[in-house]
Amino acid sequence: MDVVLSGRAAKPKAQSLVGTLSFEFSMDDSLLDVVLPHFLSSLAPSWDARHENGLTTNDIRLTFFSNISFKGSLNMTLREFVQIHLDFPFAKAMPPVLKQSARSIGPFPAFLYFELHVQQDLFENRTNEDMNITSGKGHAGGKRKKNGHDENERPIKRIHGGGGIAMLSTFNPPADYVSPVAQPLRTKVTLYRTAYTVSDDGEVSLDESTREALQSPSFIHDSSLGQGVMKTVYQLDSPGHTYVVKRFHRMSPKEDKAVSVADNNRLLLDELKLLGCIKWLLASFYEYGKQQGVDLDTSLIVTEAWYAIEDVANTKPCHASGVSDDDYDVDVRDSGVAWLLEPRRSGGVMKYCGTVLGSKFKPVQGRLAATIYAFIHFAWLYSKKSILLCDVQTMIIRQDGKELNVIFDPMAHTPKGCSGPGDHGDKGIKDFIEHHKCTTKCESLGLDALEDDLEDLDLE
Ligand SMILES: Nc1ncnc2c1ncn2[C@@H]1O[C@H](COP(=O)(O)OP(=O)(O)O)[C@@H](O)[C@H]1O
Ligand SMILES: [Mg+2]
Ligand SMILES: [Zn+2]
Repeated sequence: MDVVLSGRAAKPKAQSLVGTLSFEFSMDDSLLDVVLPHFLSSLAPSWDARHENGLTTNDIRLTFFSNISFKGSLNMTLREFVQIHLDFPFAKAMPPVLKQSARSIGPFPAFLYFELHVQQDLFENRTNEDMNITSGKGHAGGKRKKNGHDENERPIKRIHGGGGIAMLSTFNPPADYVSPVAQPLRTKVTLYRTAYTVSDDGEVSLDESTREALQSPSFIHDSSLGQGVMKTVYQLDSPGHTYVVKRFHRMSPKEDKAVSVADNNRLLLDELKLLGCIKWLLASFYEYGKQQGVDLDTSLIVTEAWYAIEDVANTKPCHASGVSDDDYDVDVRDSGVAWLLEPRRSGGVMKYCGTVLGSKFKPVQGRLAATIYAFIHFAWLYSKKSILLCDVQTMIIRQDGKELNVIFDPMAHTPKGCSGPGDHGDKGIKDFIEHHKCTTKCESLGLDALEDDLEDLDLE
């Protein structure tokens, strides 16, 4: 295992922190419960000597050699992990000096090499600790104005002046972490967020009583963190928290027409509505599963999400909003610019199905996947055949030492075809009915077969 610092430069560069740590594990040890905690605690003395705050599993990302992501979750034994990565060249994917250790025992490699990436921005936002200072290097830049951007200083409590504890440190941050050029450009924003509520019968609405300003100063990064087919995602830094904000960059997967401020607003509200419905359906699913005594994977949750409005009454919309000077008219000034706000997660996306399954659809294997497919089937029936979830994806987060699989970016097919982009209406419903194969979870839950629903569909 190598411990690597991933900087918050626009193109993160990695810097090895403590050299390679190694340890012998049993193939039946769990990555999440045994391997990761072991390395975090071996790392703690040298980390804690240089930093005010300890590392948690949420600050780090585990990868193969040279930052290659692996499949799925850490919630498995080393044996299971190797089994789902049989196509991975374990023996080759390690630094040259270690390659001689790469023997195998039967089908299994005797030596696994991982990197533990410390996500500098997540750590700093969680702890308010500036790693450039606690590692002994002050800011080279400080306040600056560049390209007209008003970049205020990060709200850091300066406890050590720089020096001091740094005498113990062998850590030497590469120049691009302390140079102002490597800092991402961010724009200060005033953002109000509103949570949604879901009534007992599953109706979703914004709860105006929760409306609050995000703590100041908050910044939206100028360059995006990522982009899907529909939305562009930007990081938002707020004191003590790291979020993402999302906006739509197209109206439908096929159309490339520009999205107006009003269209974006509408699409985001539809997405929030769907998130709320799914949250309600998921709670009902787990409740029903419990009543029926069915063994379900209970690690699924729906992402936290808020409807957020960037206040642009007195300042232009931020760079990331994509709102041009021409579009910054009286209406936009009054209404503000809408965003979908979510906590920022690190790590990869796991996809269980696309918008359409099609005849070549190969379901993902395993207990979690079987639970998800049964949930889609259940949700269709329980929503009185009004919502057929599709494009189901998750990201993993760790909370209190447990792994949770967070559903985000949902889509659905609905009989009216109007739940949002990707809704193929009755055609999408027919596709699912034809290609969904009931899992043992669907059967144990006693879910009605779907075939009879085909007759009700309106297909020309
Ligand atoms: N909360 C988040 N934290 C970190 N990355 C995210 C988050 N949400 C989305 N992403 C990344 O951004 C990509 C696009 O976001 P997504 O909501 O899936 O948009 P789209 O509707 O275009 O697919 C995702 O595939 C994922 O890689
Ligand atoms: Mg997506
Ligand atoms: Zn089924």
